[in-house]
Amino acid sequence: MSITKVSDEEIKKQYEYMEKVKELSSKGLKYCINTMGCKLNEADSEKISGMLEEMGYEKCDSFEEANLVVFNTCSIRENAEEKVFGKLGELKNLKEKNNMIICFAGCMSQEPHVIEKIQKSYPHVDIIFGTHNIYKFPEMLFEKISKQPKRVVDVWNIDGEIYEGLPVKRESKTQASIIIMNGCNNFCSYCIVPYVRGRERSRAPEDIIFEAQELAKDGCKEILLLGQNVNSYKPREDYNFANLLADLDKVDGIDIIRFTSPHPKDFKDDVIDVIANSKKISKVIHLPLQSGSSRVLKLMNRGYTKEQYLDLVDRIRKKIPNVYFTTDIIVGFPGETEEDFEDTLDVVRKVDFEQVFMFIYSLRHGTRAENMEGHLSEEVKSERFNRLKTLSDKMTEEGMNKYVGTIQHVLVEGESKTNKDVLTARTDSNKIVNFEGDKSLIGKEIEVKIISQHVWYLKGEVIDKDF
Ligand code: 5AD
Ligand code: SF4
Repeated sequence: MSITKVSDEEIKKQYEYMEKVKELSSKGLKYCINTMGCKLNEADSEKISGMLEEMGYEKCDSFEEANLVVFNTCSIRENAEEKVFGKLGELKNLKEKNNMIICFAGCMSQEPHVIEKIQKSYPHVDIIFGTHNIYKFPEMLFEKISKQPKRVVDVWNIDGEIYEGLPVKRESKTQASIIIMNGCNNFCSYCIVPYVRGRERSRAPEDIIFEAQELAKDGCKEILLLGQNVNSYKPREDYNFANLLADLDKVDGIDIIRFTSPHPKDFKDDVIDVIANSKKISKVIHLPLQSGSSRVLKLMNRGYTKEQYLDLVDRIRKKIPNVYFTTDIIVGFPGETEEDFEDTLDVVRKVDFEQVFMFIYSLRHGTRAENMEGHLSEEVKSERFNRLKTLSDKMTEEGMNKYVGTIQHVLVEGESKTNKDVLTARTDSNKIVNFEGDKSLIGKEIEVKIISQHVWYLKGEVIDKDF
């Protein structure tokens, strides 16, 4: 995999467009960004927000207040489309009132049928751009503003280059996401991602390390490395994901390093060793299983069997005894039999996951699974989904009970979203802990005693403020 970067001249040009948009726009304009899907999309939204703020826009939380709305969409599941189009429809009236610019971005804009639908039935959408050319957003917005009422459509079906140096608006001061690679070469038969995000491209390690250092200088303690397949990270022949983890481990000020998602088939011993030897790299590993049946895994084109997955888990557990696993599972893949599903439940029991993210199989046009035999009825799919959920809920509850009475070393992230009088933090195993405490603790690492569990979070008491 090679690195091709957007040139410095091009980035400079976009900064010039940002200046021009700022000059042309009235003061106090507000934007609202609607982000669907995964952490990568969230990270892309932070970039879109960063550019908008550079252009003088202020963030707001509702469409009613907004003069510019961005839909940063996700294609992973089918039903998301209806929701987005529903919301787009609702904006027709508001658009006039707020003199609103509507932008449609993200994975769905890479799907030709979505673009066609917008062109035909949603004339009030002003700007459409895909996942490969986010850095050109200032230029598109300038075009729209200066040549109204023309619609700007710029969607590329070639893989976009890596870009550096554009503004980012980080949602949190203590934690930050860093995209290390984009795209996917695996073509799992159910998945649309390789079609909408293109082939794998890795960012240069120097740029990633520099970003981590800059974040640390700004008070960031925790980084989350993102990519569709982080352990395929390969910017050059002599450098891989294990090297990157080892280098990031040396960045002063960064205390916690997480990553998502790795692919089980590419999870090699070098990565396991780096995690085992690091105090900073999180011991929670998200290891997408998708199915526990070797037969279904083959149909899914996952590149491992049930036994190989379980063997990998064993190898990781031997080297990292305090490891926790979380996973993704798709229920109801075409042709999945009762026996195949039992295999999935068997792996879930054997691995004892901290958390299972469950998905009902959703047909995506253009994927290989679309034409496979044996598509299951909604009834069978939801019945299996509910059985998996019952098992997973029971295991989650048992897992949470184990924390009660223990002392946990946590990084205090901020006020709880639902109750401003309570602070929130996460354990090494990524469990939310809420507790009462002084706001000065935010950003600090402290110890809390867990006093109770509430399924999705733990309740704690501060026991050492000077940790
Ligand atoms: N249907 C259901 N779930 C899917 N995922 C990806 N594609 C599909 C699909 N077509 C799930 C996988 C992946 C997660 C991000 O979404 O489990 O790991
Ligand atoms: Fe989709 Fe498979 Fe690539 Fe993950 S590894 S993005 S599931 S094709």
